[in-house]
Amino acid sequence: MKVLNGKNDINEAIEYIKNGKLVIFPTETVYGIGANVFDEEAVSSIFKMKGRKQDNPLIVHISDLNMLNDLVEEVGEIEQNLINEFWPGPLTIIFPKTNLIPDIVTCGLDTVGIRMPSNEIANKLIKQSELPIAAPSANISGKPSGTCIEDIKNEFINEDIIMIDGGDSKIGLESTVIKVENNQIIILRPGYITERDLSNYGKVKISPNILKEKFEEIQKVESPGMKYKHYAPNCRCELVLGENDNEIRKKILDEIGHGVEENNEAKIVVLYKYNEPDIKINDVRYICMGKDDEEISKNIYHLLRNLDKINPDIVYIESVEKTGLGIAIFNRLIRACEYNII
Ligand code: TXA
Ligand code: MG
Repeated sequence: MKVLNGKNDINEAIEYIKNGKLVIFPTETVYGIGANVFDEEAVSSIFKMKGRKQDNPLIVHISDLNMLNDLVEEVGEIEQNLINEFWPGPLTIIFPKTNLIPDIVTCGLDTVGIRMPSNEIANKLIKQSELPIAAPSANISGKPSGTCIEDIKNEFINEDIIMIDGGDSKIGLESTVIKVENNQIIILRPGYITERDLSNYGKVKISPNILKEKFEEIQKVESPGMKYKHYAPNCRCELVLGENDNEIRKKILDEIGHGVEENNEAKIVVLYKYNEPDIKINDVRYICMGKDDEEISKNIYHLLRNLDKINPDIVYIESVEKTGLGIAIFNRLIRACEYNII
């Protein structure tokens, strides 16, 4: 593994991509681990290095619209409007794919997810290698996505790979993934671009699985990635829901109270949102996720990874409201908690 500073020239990374090797690069959402989309062997090594299941398709990253022509059969009117508004940026659009894209990229699907990142280093890497780059998030499958080089380094330290350091990811959660069907925009994975942002361009439907609070209720999966264990720290995490913040905080106090009766040695962490709780329990570690949803989205993966360093017996996480960017945060938190809710 070798780290390049993204402020300097990145020619070595460009050569790597061209030669069928993998490069970890920054995007505005999270870091990606990328390969030349047309090189089946290189793409297959992404799956191996991440331990990723072979039925979870990759997003293809482009740097300009000319690249799109080779990759997709057609661009509908709504898709074109979305492209005009949101590219470059954190929106992945599902298109019917051409035969130029190897099956391994899309896991045999006849559609492909494409996005044009706004991050300058990502853009330079794609443009100068003159190749679309297939890239999932840079993390071992099941773990939180990588949003800074320090977190990612540990996971890929023994690999023949170049990492380009572009600082902390600005957004911190992966792109919004959508497809257009019967003139409806369907959100398959919520992200920074919200239902409201999209609603100017057509009727928007949020795939029902996204808002479900019970794993048993999750049925047909439209975006294969949403069905796996995801973003989970090694310790037990509970997502605490409530009508309002007072109720959430009261529930946490009650839970800690019961827990202490059973085992007063337990190492407990509370991840709280926005402002500090008025009542805190001795020996419990309180960590702020962020003062608003934007900050939470930026911090959350790093915080989840840090839990493994603290190694608590239990973590209580205050849920956010399921509106706006909160939908994307909720979606990640409930998976990080493996659907344990209080
Ligand atoms: O922000 C992001 O999207 C980051 C950066 C690196 O661009 N990438 C990322 O990739 O999050 P990944 O592989 O971790 O997530 C891709 C998601 C998965 O949930 C996958 O199932 C879905 O996109 N996806 C990809 N192609 C699809 C397709 N043809 N149909 C439906 N869902 C698709
Ligand atoms: Mg991922």
